[in-house]
Amino acid sequence: MVIASVPEQKVKIGPTQLLINNEWVDSVSGKRFETINPATGEVICHVAEADAADVDRAVEAARKAFSSGDWKNMSATGRGELLYKLADLIEQNIEELARLETLDNGKPLNDSLKADLPLVIACYRYYAGWADKIQGKTIPINGPYFCYTRHEPVGVVGQIIPWNFPLLMQAWKLAPALATGNTVILKTAEQTPLSALRIGELIVEAGFPPGVVNILSGYGPTAGGAIARHMDIDKVAFTGSTEVGHLIMEAAAKSNLKRVTLELGGKSPNIVFADADMDQAIEGAHFGLFFNQGQCCCAGSRVFVEEKCYDEFVAKSVERAKRRTVGNPFDTQTEQGPQVDKEQFHKVMSYIESGQREGAKMLCGGSQAGSQGYFIEPTIFADVQDEMKIAQEEIFGPVMSIIKFKDIDEVIKRANTTIYGLAAAVWTKDITKAHAIAHSLRAGTVWVNCFDVFDAAAPFGGFKQSGIGRELGEYGLQQYTEVKTVTVKL
Ligand code: NAI
Ligand code: MG
Repeated sequence: MVIASVPEQKVKIGPTQLLINNEWVDSVSGKRFETINPATGEVICHVAEADAADVDRAVEAARKAFSSGDWKNMSATGRGELLYKLADLIEQNIEELARLETLDNGKPLNDSLKADLPLVIACYRYYAGWADKIQGKTIPINGPYFCYTRHEPVGVVGQIIPWNFPLLMQAWKLAPALATGNTVILKTAEQTPLSALRIGELIVEAGFPPGVVNILSGYGPTAGGAIARHMDIDKVAFTGSTEVGHLIMEAAAKSNLKRVTLELGGKSPNIVFADADMDQAIEGAHFGLFFNQGQCCCAGSRVFVEEKCYDEFVAKSVERAKRRTVGNPFDTQTEQGPQVDKEQFHKVMSYIESGQREGAKMLCGGSQAGSQGYFIEPTIFADVQDEMKIAQEEIFGPVMSIIKFKDIDEVIKRANTTIYGLAAAVWTKDITKAHAIAHSLRAGTVWVNCFDVFDAAAPFGGFKQSGIGRELGEYGLQQYTEVKTVTVKL
């Protein structure tokens, strides 16, 4: 691990108010809260804090936009053109947006610029293309009738997003909702409000009519809770912890049975067989866990390694982790920035302590890196046992757990012994084994000889307690439409 310094950064801060009905407004309460630079722990600025009253205002604007006016009357092609325009504006401001994302979240600028932003732009373009290709069916029912279906927007949609990929999660949520003609109240995570607000400016500039997209900064139990239980919101889409996923569903059930889609936590198995290309598997497992400071819902956090190659894999993985550059996220050499905030920092450190306490072998890392901000050394535990906390719970940090296995049937069973089912990966040159694993794992995504390959066209989401529904791709559209059956007597 190499530590880089954290010098002053000049980053343009965009709007800090709430976006409601295409206007920038203060919150009803007048309250503001601070957002922190996790690389230094210093306050960047204060943003308006939404609460239930602001959610009400935003819902009113979104309902009006949904029921009347330019958005309701716009052609499907027109909606697509607006999304293309937004993608173009993001592309024109890519450097500024990437820097803002890095400042607020702490992720390396290299990642913001080369991973997050290109995926954001691709997502808006992908769904822009879908806008005028969403169509129903004609159905040959019995009798003298003409029967067809329409895929109509669900209505007013509440979207609650996390802090690990602020811009990307905004795109995954907004793009399919807008392509299908919904209107939106989007609540960002309290740790990372800034980049979404700048996108809000670009949304207004692109020409989206008032009320179509409303963006609120605020806390979960207040603003988020008000969205989940609102009687005039037709659907809520949430990405975040499994714990809050339960609360969202409960609030939806107790209010108006709004539609719910959830993208939640994971404890993804990453299975390495001795017949894999070992160098690729080691680099792939490193990337699959440490990318984004380990703050990925799909992080390959249970690395199952076949007995025959276990020692080699462990030794080389430790070597690789020790070479990982940790430090100033604005430095182009940096591979790992700080954890997003103090709370996440302490959560990850407590898992490291628990791993040591439960007898896993800590082979590198384990401490805070540097003396300011929320940096953690890349940490590897070997000889991890299935029942240890670090093998069962989502750590969401730069902590790899390596677990030994003997044969394929055993590893499938152990890999599936989890409440989660978001993603998985397998490394092998044996195509039969690869497909056997891919078909046997109860997970929404299985990567073979690769990890974290995302594409706007490929659906993503969880089995079991990792979520409900799918985002991205054509499947992602279904979550934003209601099917209407029209039957006409001939
Ligand atoms: P969280 O689930 O509390 O926060 C995610 C979003 O939900 C934020 O916008 C937050 O304001 C909102 N929220 C929180 N409580 C809410 C409530 N009662 N009603 C409505 N909205 C609410 O996640 P948090 O606290 O930031 O992180 C805790 C753990 O969750 C992490 O350590 C990690 O394990 C997991 N997580 C998983 C993510 C994923 O991508 N699946 C993303 C972020 C966190
Ligand atoms: Mg929370």
